[in-house]
Amino acid sequence: MKLASFGTRVDEKPFLEAWAKRTGNEMQIFTETLNEDTLKLAADGTQGITGLQTVPYSAKLFQMMADRGINFLSIRNVGLDNIDLEGAKAAGVRISNVPAYSPSAIAEFAVTLVMHLCRNLGQVEQHLQNNDYNGAMHYMGREVGHSTVGVIGTGRIGRAAIQIFNGFGAKVIAYDPFPAKNSDIDYVTLDELLAQSDIIDLHVPGLPQNTHMINADSFAKMKDGVIIVNTARGNLIDTKALLDALHSGKVAGAGIDTFEYEQQDLLNLEQHGNFNDPVWDEMLNMPNVVLSPHIAYFTATAVKNMCEFSLNNLTGFINDGKAENEVNI
Ligand code: NAD
Ligand code: COI
Repeated sequence: MKLASFGTRVDEKPFLEAWAKRTGNEMQIFTETLNEDTLKLAADGTQGITGLQTVPYSAKLFQMMADRGINFLSIRNVGLDNIDLEGAKAAGVRISNVPAYSPSAIAEFAVTLVMHLCRNLGQVEQHLQNNDYNGAMHYMGREVGHSTVGVIGTGRIGRAAIQIFNGFGAKVIAYDPFPAKNSDIDYVTLDELLAQSDIIDLHVPGLPQNTHMINADSFAKMKDGVIIVNTARGNLIDTKALLDALHSGKVAGAGIDTFEYEQQDLLNLEQHGNFNDPVWDEMLNMPNVVLSPHIAYFTATAVKNMCEFSLNNLTGFINDGKAENEVNI
C-alpha cells in the first residue's frame, strides 16, 4: 500500500516508520500540513493520507484528493472542527479520526492548569523574575479538594477529568445535554453549573453551535473569582469577554490550551513566519493566565496511539472497505 503522512512531527516519525516496516507498507512522511498546495507532495498512486493539524482541510482539497484517486483521510487526532465534512462527503473522501488515543492525557493537563492557577504560580513566578522573593510569598492558594468543580462536557475526556477531581475530594458537578448513562455524575443545568462552580473545566467539541457558549452573559452568571480552563477548542469561549472578566476580577485565573484565534495565527505562522497576535500577547503578559500551545494531548502514550490507530484506520479503509473509527458525516 502507498500511504502518505502530513503534518508529521519528529516525535511521530519513528512510530510511523516502525508501523510501515512491520506491515510492509510504503510511507511518505511530510512535515508540511495538508492543503491544496502540499497535496502534490504525495506520490502518484498514493491510496490514503494520515494527517495531523488544526488548520483547515478544505472542500477544494478533498476534491483534489478525489481527482487523484486518494479517497481516504485518516486524522491522527480527535477533533473534527477543522474539516469541511460536507466537502469531503461531496468529493467522496471518507474520513476517520482517533477518538480515544488517551483521554487521560488531556484530562491530566486540564487538572495541571487548574492546580497552577489555584496556587497562583504565575504571580509567584512574576515576582521571582523581578527578584522580589518577599512579594512572591503573598499569594494564598485555594484547594481543589475544597472547591466545587464544574465540568462541561462529560464525554471521554470530561469523565477522565471528573475521576481526577473526585480523587482530590472536590465537589464535582457537570453539564452535558447527553448525560452519561449509568454514571454517578452529579448533573445540573448549565446555569446552575455557572452559578455554583469555583472552577470551570471545558471538554466540549468545537462544533459551530458551541461557538461562544461561554460569553459575557455566562461570565456574569459565574461566582466572583472563578477559575476557568479550556483544553477543548478555542471557539468555545468569547476571548474578548474573557479578557473583560479577567480585567474586572470576575475571573481570577484562566488556563487556555486551545486559543480562539489559533487557526488564523497558525496559518500566519505557516505563511509569514510569525504568530503575531496582540490578544495572545496581552494574555501572555497576565500572570493569572496560563497559555499553552495546544499540547494537552502531547504525551508518549498519546503520540504512539495517534499514529498507530490512525494507520490501522487507513488500512481498514483500503483493505476491508471499513475503518473502525470512520466519521459518520
Ligand atoms: P467526546 O465526544 O467523547 O465528548 C464530548 C462531550 O461533549 C459529549 O458527551 C457531548 O454530548 C458533549 N457536548 C457537546 N456539546 C455540548 C455542550 N454545548 N455543552 C455540554 N456538553 C456538550 O469528546 P472527548 O474525547 O471528550 O473530547 C472533547 C474535545 O476535546 C474534542 O472535541 C476536542 O475538541 C478536544 N481535544 C483537545 C485536545 C488537546 O490537545 N487540547 C486533545 C483531544 C481532544
Ligand atoms: C485533538 O485530538 O482533537 C487535539 O486537539 C490534538 C491536536 C494535536 C489536534
